[in-house]
Amino acid sequence: MLTLGGCDPGPAQSAPSDAELAAARVAMVREQIVARGVTDTRVLAAMTRVPRHEFIPAGQRSSAYVDGPLPIGHGQTISQPFVVAFMTACLDPKPGDRVLEIGTGSGYQAAVLSGLVAEVYSIEVVEPLARRAKADLKRLGYQNVTVRAGDGYLGWPEAAPFDAIIVTCAPDQVPQALVQQLKPGGRMIVPVGPQHGVQDLILLRKTPKGLETQAVMPVRFVPMVGG
Ligand SMILES: C[S@@+](CC[C@H](N)C(=O)[O-])C[C@H]1O[C@@H](n2cnc3c(N)ncnc32)[C@H](O)[C@@H]1O
Repeated sequence: MLTLGGCDPGPAQSAPSDAELAAARVAMVREQIVARGVTDTRVLAAMTRVPRHEFIPAGQRSSAYVDGPLPIGHGQTISQPFVVAFMTACLDPKPGDRVLEIGTGSGYQAAVLSGLVAEVYSIEVVEPLARRAKADLKRLGYQNVTVRAGDGYLGWPEAAPFDAIIVTCAPDQVPQALVQQLKPGGRMIVPVGPQHGVQDLILLRKTPKGLETQAVMPVRFVPMVGG
């Protein structure tokens, strides 16, 4: 794939063109996401469409399509592209769905969901990040995403119930308020485990017989604070 930057800035380079960024995004989907087994064509199209570089601080944009998380300020990160695609596919998003995200961060995951579902609600505990993500999502035309600053541990009761919930920070156990805000048949993907350690990415389904849970992948997410 087109390599867009590393630690050594090397000789001065001009900013990548839109065509180079689009080509890097296509390569990201092929080499990082399809190659690791994500097959949902709607999710792959969304990952190809959303301009990840627009959600990265200006000085880091040339690294936007590398295979890893990147800092977004305030000690937080935008997740690795594969992890965004994998978690999105686990939710099995449908065009009519209403989805809750806990941990807006840069707003990128919300933008990916925006084109796949009817409405996205996203909560970010770091107020300046919430403000920036809200402004970026508005600037880029993502009209079905609502962002608010606050502690996502208790979910968004006024907007519940949700068809799907995605948690992009790691609590030490599944927050029960979020389970309650899932519709029957609803799906939740959440990394659960110790702070700054390896967590289990858990997929939950609310079925008529109760909650089905499945650990789908080991991950490392920043901790969920508050609660
Ligand atoms: C890995 S980052 C999220 C990446 C984000 N989804 C994106 O697309 O850029 C995790 C985010 O969760 C936020 N967070 C941590 N605890 C939270 C809480 N209790 N409620 C809401 N957000 C929280 C962090 O501030 C951080 O921005």
